[in-house]
Amino acid sequence: MRHINSKTGLFCVIGDPIEHSLSPIMHNSVFEKLNLNYVYLAFKIKKEELEDAVKAFRILAHGFNVTIPHKVSIINYLDEISKEAELIGAVNTVKVYKNKLIGYNTDGIGAIKALEEKTSIEGKKIVIAGAGGASRAIVFQLALRDCEITLVNRTYKKAVYLAKEVDEKLNKKIKTEELSKLKEIIKNADIFINTTSVGMYPNTNETLLLAEDIPEKIVVMDIVYNPLKTRLLKEAEKAGAKTIDGLGMFVYQGAEALRIWLGIEPPVDVMRNAVLKALVGS
Ligand SMILES: NC(=O)c1ccc[n+]([C@@H]2O[C@H](COP(=O)([O-])OP(=O)(O)OC[C@H]3O[C@@H](n4cnc5c(N)ncnc54)[C@H](OP(=O)(O)O)[C@@H]3O)[C@@H](O)[C@H]2O)c1
Repeated sequence: MRHINSKTGLFCVIGDPIEHSLSPIMHNSVFEKLNLNYVYLAFKIKKEELEDAVKAFRILAHGFNVTIPHKVSIINYLDEISKEAELIGAVNTVKVYKNKLIGYNTDGIGAIKALEEKTSIEGKKIVIAGAGGASRAIVFQLALRDCEITLVNRTYKKAVYLAKEVDEKLNKKIKTEELSKLKEIIKNADIFINTTSVGMYPNTNETLLLAEDIPEKIVVMDIVYNPLKTRLLKEAEKAGAKTIDGLGMFVYQGAEALRIWLGIEPPVDVMRNAVLKALVGS
């Protein structure tokens, strides 16, 4: 059992809403396991409070995570941002270093690590559904690799806009299609990644694809992690496809943040089990 004392260092996550966040459970499991004198808390920070909160954390914290709705606006209050965060245009991890605030984005790296546990990326045809914040991180990270990306989104113009941005920044062409074409284009894909919130609690019966639409040879990844086994993953299993749930991405984005903050090799199994226990218990 760790003891909080006058030397305990602070890490935290800021967002609104924040009550549902599993980051405190995950990061505190690491501090406990490695006997590190840090604590990780969650703070509900409204949009109009962000500037004041960041000023305080510059003095009080060693680092913090940033979630909805602050991932883009936080950039205004930072001293530097990493190449990835600049490409993606959003920050989910801030390191306080020598009185400087440095922003990073570990979401895309986390997703790719989870994906590469089950499949290779090079030369693959990858279909991605969604063009929101998480999609941006994954699309930019994948665009740096040798793979063919097709993007579909309910609001089609958002997919077109994201593809245009990737082309301008990385000189990489990404195809776009209407969401209604998903069933058709999936037939030729090697990997499908759902980055939309379809299937997330409480709408757990929703799915973009049914078993009959899913080819057996495809790898299906769903980044939604509440529930862990989404309807999409159940349908993919029924079709005989390989599946990857959203827990891996969540754990790996957190592990990457710990590497940035503390330079440690995080015990990912401990992190995974802590989150899993919380998800099962909720
Ligand atoms: N595993 C992880 O570590 C991790 C990390 C980040 C996020 N996530 C999860 O990823 C999901 C998306 O997060 P986000 O931050 O990217 O959210 P976001 O920026 O709000 O984007 C939501 C995306 O979902 C689409 N969408 C929402 N409802 C839909 C529906 N009924 N039919 C079709 N498309 C729909 C939106 O399409 P429009 O553009 O048409 O609105 C948009 O593309 C959430 O469930 C979140 O919990 C997981």
